[in-house]
Amino acid sequence: MDRLIVQGGARLSGRLRARGSKNAVLPIMAACLVADGPLVLRNVPRLRDVTTLCRILEELGVSVDHGEDRLVLHAAADGPVEAGYDLVSTMRASVCVLGPLIARRGRARVSLPGGCVFGVRPVDLHVKGLNALGAELRIEGGYLESEVGKRLHGAPLFLGSAHGSSVLATAQVLTAACLAEGRTVIENAAMEPEIVELTRLLVAMGARIEGAGNHRLTIDGVERLNGTEWTVGGDRIEAGTFLVGAAMTGGDVTVEGVVPEDLSALLETLKVMGAGVERDQDSVRVHASDRLRAADVTTLPHPGFPTDLQAQIMTAMTRAAGISVVTERIFPDRFMHVAELLRLGASIRKEGSQALVVGTEQLSGATVMASDLRASAALVLAGLVAEGSTEIRRVYHIDRGYERIDARLASLGAQIRRETQPSS
Ligand code: EPZ
Repeated sequence: MDRLIVQGGARLSGRLRARGSKNAVLPIMAACLVADGPLVLRNVPRLRDVTTLCRILEELGVSVDHGEDRLVLHAAADGPVEAGYDLVSTMRASVCVLGPLIARRGRARVSLPGGCVFGVRPVDLHVKGLNALGAELRIEGGYLESEVGKRLHGAPLFLGSAHGSSVLATAQVLTAACLAEGRTVIENAAMEPEIVELTRLLVAMGARIEGAGNHRLTIDGVERLNGTEWTVGGDRIEAGTFLVGAAMTGGDVTVEGVVPEDLSALLETLKVMGAGVERDQDSVRVHASDRLRAADVTTLPHPGFPTDLQAQIMTAMTRAAGISVVTERIFPDRFMHVAELLRLGASIRKEGSQALVVGTEQLSGATVMASDLRASAALVLAGLVAEGSTEIRRVYHIDRGYERIDARLASLGAQIRRETQPSS
């Protein structure tokens, strides 16, 4: 098990290019299942989650060619339809092969994904949406099963829970609807940039979709979809993580290869906290010289503040002047980072889905444990400002969603090294 050792005190400065987006590439990879021809992807990030999904696709008979600068996925019209517990339980996003399998092969048996460190992760909207298209899904022995054996049909449907829209439920219902007979209207569709990118990819494959980026998606099903070539967009959450690091270390970082508008809620918060923010066509610069000021943040579906940057902004708040309030509306239990930040000397009080953060002058280094992918990245940021040395264990959580985070941060001046522990 690897661990990261971070020395506090460095100011992050410099520029780097965002890697391909994890949360865009995963549903795009699953969409290879609905294409008759090969899907050629470029700018695919080298992440554990991508490797895991490649293995699941191989189990589904997809030919996977992961070269140096491109990933080629080619799914035949027929083949295995089972995605087993061993792989699905390591990455819940793999549930999004379910809809494409049913749409193209008429059958599927996909393990129910486990929960994760920040709570139960229901899939009721995935089931509701696919059943509206005629999937006739049932739960059997921990698996979601469908043997509809014929073409799905379009339908009007509403995809919303008490917490709002669902990104991956939207992704997989949208993908399945592209091959369904007739028109599907998805109300309360997720509007995240990753869904917009998936929509554009599907249109490039020959799908007929209106409403990208809006809360209503209209899909007119077609008989077949072609393969295509696609360059994955930059990862706005990775970029946001580095930009928060710049603000909280009093540094100056420019991240290229992202759409600034996709990070507006974060950039607005950083400005409120006193950081300087400059936007260009496809890059963002954040710099700060003084101690940041407190701010209040509530996570919401896009374009609200992204839940995937909540742990990172809270870490910046732990040293800001004043009292900040963080309200988590997407995953009310997504506070695994709080206990670890307290070990570093932060002053945080969690009440239900809210955390009150009292900014302190100084954090002090300690050994902490990674957990949720984004919480773990936040602990690395905390180590950058904690006095002395911070050791972050179970780094594999970070490697799921950040490509070589230690080398990338070191290129910005961080004092960070990875120690590879012989797996016990
Ligand atoms: C996606 O997860 C992302 N993962 C998550 O990023 C992200 O935090 C989340 O969207 C919210 O933006 C990928 O894209 C691979 P949701 P997803 O369905 O789609 C509830 C990361 O760190 N809900 O949008 O699984 C759910 O409990 C990961 O990169 C239902 O009630 O999240 C939550 O409260 C973590 N029923 C809310 O909706 C359902 O059937 C939003 O979840 C599905 C979801």
